[in-house]
Amino acid sequence: MRIGTVRELHDAERRVAVTPASTSMIRKLGHEVAIQSGAGAGAGFSDEEYTRAGAEVIGSAADLWQQCDAIAKIRPPTLGEVERTRADLLLISFIFPAQNELLLRLLAEAGVTAIALDMVPRISRAQKLDALSSMANIAGYRAVIEASGEFGRFFAGQITAAGTVNPARVLVIGAGVAGLSAIGTAVSLGAVVHAFDVRPEVAEQISSMGAEFLFLEFEEDASGSGGDAKPSSPEFRRKQLDLFRQQAPKTDILITTALIPGMKAPELWLEEMVSAMKPGSVIVDLAAEQGGNCSLTIPDRLVTTDNGVKIIGYTDFPSRMATQSSLLLANNVHQLLGELTPERDGQFRLDFEDDIIRCSTVARQGEVTYPQEPPRTAPMAVPKSTTKREPSKAELREQDRQFHRRQTQQQVMLLATGGALVFLIGLVAPASFMQHFIVFILSCFVGYQVIWNVSHALHTPLMSVTNAISGIIIVGALLQIPSANTLVIGLAAISVLIATINIVGGFLVTRRMLAMFQKS
Ligand code: NAI
Repeated sequence: MRIGTVRELHDAERRVAVTPASTSMIRKLGHEVAIQSGAGAGAGFSDEEYTRAGAEVIGSAADLWQQCDAIAKIRPPTLGEVERTRADLLLISFIFPAQNELLLRLLAEAGVTAIALDMVPRISRAQKLDALSSMANIAGYRAVIEASGEFGRFFAGQITAAGTVNPARVLVIGAGVAGLSAIGTAVSLGAVVHAFDVRPEVAEQISSMGAEFLFLEFEEDASGSGGDAKPSSPEFRRKQLDLFRQQAPKTDILITTALIPGMKAPELWLEEMVSAMKPGSVIVDLAAEQGGNCSLTIPDRLVTTDNGVKIIGYTDFPSRMATQSSLLLANNVHQLLGELTPERDGQFRLDFEDDIIRCSTVARQGEVTYPQEPPRTAPMAVPKSTTKREPSKAELREQDRQFHRRQTQQQVMLLATGGALVFLIGLVAPASFMQHFIVFILSCFVGYQVIWNVSHALHTPLMSVTNAISGIIIVGALLQIPSANTLVIGLAAISVLIATINIVGGFLVTRRMLAMFQKS
């Protein structure tokens, strides 16, 4: 099949759905790639790079729409673009079907098979093609960068000869993908970060990232299905607003990302809270497009209030980092094409039994196929419910007895075979050899027993601290080196070399593991 990518028509859109790197990967699926001249320019990819990666560069958008079997793009198609589609075309783009009913109907009427990147279900298997999460991650990062650009002070505290600088105090409301990314970025810049979410289960994630979770003294489980929140009760909302009222005068930077998918963003930061903030404070409202979490947000604008608070309502954060966004998005598109081309033979096979394809296909064969039933598999972050009957205590005891009986039988067999072998070797080998050989066998046995009872997850840390064993090998080998026999000297030298590699490798692995738990 021939996959084409057009230049985006929206003025503020600089991303591109296929990059030179993803071109090569898509070609490995057996497809051809065509790109409209200049489509990658906004994201920093030239036509030459695409040509080198094996894509055909086509001058006009009309030719591209006509000559390709599938079109991958970012923004939902415009009405003009829909007119260029035809019955057997496959379209992959963000479509937002709930907000774009007319577009959906037109695509269905044109007979297009439309796959919405924004409808990929948030299940574990679909993580690699979850374009919404890729973009939210970038938006969270960029929100902090934009805020720091508008904020007139350092994020990190400093003690200088000219005076002491207090760290900026950042509050993040909504700790989903974008919120967690914002928390990570603000913490790494040295700010003191607090965060709030209606789902208490994210508290641990927030504190593991170095921020403080603001707990609300209230008995209500606001966790909905699939890791999303559910609408809060009026009492909960009242408590939440009280908390934000207390936070407002202390907050230098506020980043709001609160949203329940498919609903208008909840209004959480009211005018009175903006008025209570210090002049120079910055609010970044990531939910601006869905109505905003701050009541004074104007989508796509930066407004400065009378008391000097800047409110950023941009809705194009990912496009402001077009290169990074395009690289991640193009990977998501490539993974989606991989799902559509299971045989890697350049032929699409749309299996509508597959949750990912069923949920993300919003129009096909002249029909609107949105909305679909949610995935039949368990969503991310929700533990799978098990329908298997729990065994009773008596059954568990019996299983345990049988397991131990089998283990004892195996050990007796092993000992008997080992004993017989040692006896047979002892009949022919010299006594000095047998002495060392038995010590060797016992060491293997003890080592095996020690390692085998350690859980698999701990094998790497265990191996990284086995330097002591390698140390003993080196001592033994050094004792053998003065030997008159060149074979013994050679073997001792090889032992020293291998044990040294093991020790150095062990230290390197240990260092890397410790670095994972250290704050820079
Ligand atoms: P998400 O669904 O992963 O996270 C939303 C979080 O808000 C969830 O953790 C949820 O529990 C929380 N939440 C819901 N109601 C709440 C309430 N009343 N109080 C506190 N927390 C509440 O969503 P994701 O992917 O992180 O996106 C967040 C927002 O960022 C969305 O509005 C999305 O449209 C927007 N976004 C904006 C972009 C831009 O350029 N402005 C780009 C990408 C995403």
